[in-house]
Amino acid sequence: MIILGIETSCDETAAAIVRDDRSILSNLVNSQLDEHRPYGGVVPEIAARSHLDHIDGLVDRALRDANMEFDDLDGVAATGGPGLIGGVLVGMMTAKAIALVHTLPLMAVNHLEGHALTARLTDAVEFPYLLLLVSGGHCQLLSVTGPGAYVRYGTTLDDAVGEAFDKTAKLLGLPYPGGPAVEQAARSGNPNRFDFPRPMRGRPGCDFSFSGLKTAVARTFRAATQDENVVADAAASFQTAAGEALVDRTRNAIERFRAENPNGDTLVVAGGVAANAHLRTVLGNLATDEEFRFVAPPPALCTDNAAMIAWAGIERLRLGLTDTLDFAPRPRWPLNELRVAS
Ligand code: KG4
Ligand code: ZN
Repeated sequence: MIILGIETSCDETAAAIVRDDRSILSNLVNSQLDEHRPYGGVVPEIAARSHLDHIDGLVDRALRDANMEFDDLDGVAATGGPGLIGGVLVGMMTAKAIALVHTLPLMAVNHLEGHALTARLTDAVEFPYLLLLVSGGHCQLLSVTGPGAYVRYGTTLDDAVGEAFDKTAKLLGLPYPGGPAVEQAARSGNPNRFDFPRPMRGRPGCDFSFSGLKTAVARTFRAATQDENVVADAAASFQTAAGEALVDRTRNAIERFRAENPNGDTLVVAGGVAANAHLRTVLGNLATDEEFRFVAPPPALCTDNAAMIAWAGIERLRLGLTDTLDFAPRPRWPLNELRVAS
């Protein structure tokens, strides 16, 4: 089974071709970073227009890189939400047109499910597993028992962790996009210089909160001596605090997951923030302490890409979970509203 995947929900236009033996035959991403950088964030209108400019060429190149034509495909999958609606419309309409013209099954993939199932593409992880999904818009702990089958253990009460990285970067004067810039600055910083709060630490449950941490960084940074290390030290101190907050909540989730899934023993981390090396290390250490297997996809498959959408399409097509040409893109689409195999 060979599937074309399309991803257009935020600021990367992406196309990929993936086979059901888990091989990625092509995987292209056109980042719009340069177009959004002057505004310090993603501008939805610019994003949608840029997707429209690039998607046809990317699909064409994805086929050529894989040495294939449309006739070699068994289906087409595109992100159907959640995300910026203008972009999702562009990707979904492209997929619908391809499906219609070449008589292929269509899969409207939930972007979060794309992240959630990536570890099955990269590491053949079996269900069930515990998932920490950390991206620009989401911060959730979920038990995953099959495609479409998610039980949410916790979510953020305010900001997503990626958002906290992005906002911290902005107030430290680091370049856009914030997550990688904070990680880079933190490398030469002292993580013990500032004692930032570890939000929710020690409390029961699996919810997160990051707005207090962000506010503490702002307040402390302004009051601090502006020496040559202050930015790196603040970045490192922030990253360490965020890591401890994630570890603390994930530890509670492991406990619950273990009680509900006696044969489950895997912690998976996914989403753009999972590209962060420090967070991968501390979560890996937690898993070791808890005698869990730890799986983090390679960084390029943590941030937005179309291989994960193609793979989720493969998983859904195998179960007969296809969509019709009247599928309506969904700007909001929580993981507990997915169709599952009956
Ligand atoms: O999954 P993703 O690419 O897009 C969404 O679905 O949101 O995640 C983007 C988020 C951004 O907040 C970005 O700053 C963050 O992931 N991010 C990182 C790193 N790379 C990307 N955060 C921390 N460290 C990184 N290396
Ligand atoms: Zn994403």
